Amino acid sequence: MITPKSIDEVKAAARVEEVLGEFIDLRRAGVNLKGPCPFHDEKTPSFVVSPAKGIYKCFGCGMAGDSVRFLMDHEKLSYPEAIRWIANKYNIELEETEVSEEVRREIQKKDSFFIINGFAQKLFQEYLLKTNEGRAIGLSYFKERGFLESTVEKWGLGYAPEDRHFLFNELKQGGYNLELAHELGLLKENRDFFHSRIVFPIRNLSGKIIGIGARTLSSNKRIPKYINSPESEIYNKRKTLFGLYFAKTAIRKKDTCYMVEGYTDVISLHQNGIENVVASSGTALTVEQIKLVKRFSENITVVYDGDSAGINAALRGLDLILEQDMNVRLLLLPDGEDPDSYVRKVGHTSFTEYVSENSKDFILFKIDLLLKEAGDDPIKRSKVVKDIVESISKITDSLKRNEYVKLCSRLLDVPEITIQKEANKLIKQQINKKSYSSPQFEKPRSEAEWDKDPKPNKQQSAIFDVNSHEAQERDIVRILMTLGDNFIDESKEIRVYDYVYQAILNIIEYFDNELYVEVIQEVAKAHEKELVLTPTYFLTHPNEEISQLAIEVNSDKYYYANWKSRGIELQTQAMPKDNYINDFTQSILRLKSKKLQRILEENQEKIKSISPDDVDELRIKLKVIMAIKTDLAQINNLLRNVVL
Ligand code: UTP
Ligand code: MN
Repeated sequence: MITPKSIDEVKAAARVEEVLGEFIDLRRAGVNLKGPCPFHDEKTPSFVVSPAKGIYKCFGCGMAGDSVRFLMDHEKLSYPEAIRWIANKYNIELEETEVSEEVRREIQKKDSFFIINGFAQKLFQEYLLKTNEGRAIGLSYFKERGFLESTVEKWGLGYAPEDRHFLFNELKQGGYNLELAHELGLLKENRDFFHSRIVFPIRNLSGKIIGIGARTLSSNKRIPKYINSPESEIYNKRKTLFGLYFAKTAIRKKDTCYMVEGYTDVISLHQNGIENVVASSGTALTVEQIKLVKRFSENITVVYDGDSAGINAALRGLDLILEQDMNVRLLLLPDGEDPDSYVRKVGHTSFTEYVSENSKDFILFKIDLLLKEAGDDPIKRSKVVKDIVESISKITDSLKRNEYVKLCSRLLDVPEITIQKEANKLIKQQINKKSYSSPQFEKPRSEAEWDKDPKPNKQQSAIFDVNSHEAQERDIVRILMTLGDNFIDESKEIRVYDYVYQAILNIIEYFDNELYVEVIQEVAKAHEKELVLTPTYFLTHPNEEISQLAIEVNSDKYYYANWKSRGIELQTQAMPKDNYINDFTQSILRLKSKKLQRILEENQEKIKSISPDDVDELRIKLKVIMAIKTDLAQINNLLRNVVL
């Protein structure tokens, strides 16, 4: 392992303009440099490098990061590989440590898993290409399906022979750890798990083989068509998309991702020149899979066969996609066709044309389908409305959601206000579930209580997201990540994040955004152990969601928001360095004010449900409310003074 000190040294030495300059033609543009983005096709350069901040950002496709991130994304290096690349460029000698026995064994075990899977894949491929059985059965099948030999090689396809001791013997002779091979699911009771099947290696994002899917060539209906590796320490099905390793660059460039069902669909489309395609491999889509795609594009088109059983699973899974604020389109292929057969029939140009002409926005698709099923039956039709409203309520972007409300009102022939009201009800329930998990607010409000809510603008509020604390929460995280390591006083004892952490300690549990909480937890750790968390620490964080967030907040413009205008930006300008104390004091106050307001409203709501006879309970609750009100008044007072 490279020591942290050594890593810091390397990162400090890396000049972002020099590292990226080896791959891109960069030109000066004021204090920054500009060039054509290497991550997407463009005519006018929108790829900006900031030597001062050590980061880059493409204003066309959104790719952003520092030198290390660039090498990881562009050169597909792992984190340590990227560090070594830079060390090499700047002739820095790396200091490496012996890691603890436990960690070493952990790493070794993982490595062994990959090595064993890689070994099995090579054997299966050799068997396919070099033996009579393999060629006669496996390779001829692939050829019949139109797979080129280059395709077979690229995807590492292979053949597992009939002999159920083939892999077992090879592993044994090679001195491989058979126990691990069992854990990977390659062996079962000392016999080969995969046999008499063609095999499809399943890779992770960096191309390592984490599992295998295997298709039988027999038409016997009693044996399963595909069997797959079980989950293991290196294979988590929920977090895997077949083909993503080969598709990610294309997904980014085309800024859209096709989601199909099968291994063969992915491979066949790739061979036909459509490379922005991945498969969920027969399982219902998961949030983790959506998040994987979202790293490369926010647009997904689900392409399934018309008679697919997967379509219902997809319709269910699609609410998940909406929650992630992805733009989802759906396309059913003509009867009897799947993506593989269809692309072979019409070729890649017609295929993409067909998809873009016939794919439908997901919610519209759902409306169409459900209305057709419901016919004229009024009860069924009202169920459809409910169902659609449920989907709409999952859209977190309020502008987008409003558009859908309008659209659905027209299509379903239901007044806008009704849809809006119903959606708001659901949104409030969801917010309730998410935000108030603390014991004080254990009991979520019932639907009936929401119904009774007499305030009409509160009905609307969910739609317009007044309930959202996103801006205030993000502001705190921006401060922690971009200027947290600054000292707040001359004595150099307290850093900004120490101060901020203390100040928000008692409202952390009310944060809505889980990722932000994770960042704060890091700060808490640092606070305890007296570590220093520099902006670079976050920019190069091993958790990609965190490093991505760091990059975003680092390239955000700083928005000064007057508390009076409730988050409407007044001026957009760079943050003066010496003004950060003012910056974070205001941010803390704004966040606290928001949270307290919400807590207050919750308590006021709760008190309504206490029976008038329960005097003690009432007294306690009133006391709590008074205390919150005092705090809130104080904070709002401070805010008024600070800002003006
Ligand atoms: P399909 O039955 O559509 O298979 O299942 P396919 O990929 O199109 O295969 P061909 O064209 O008939 O050869 C779609 C996906 O569902 C999973 C596999 O990942 C498959 O690619 N599946 C299907 C299973 O895991 N097990 C099964 O028994 C069937
Ligand atoms: Mn198929």
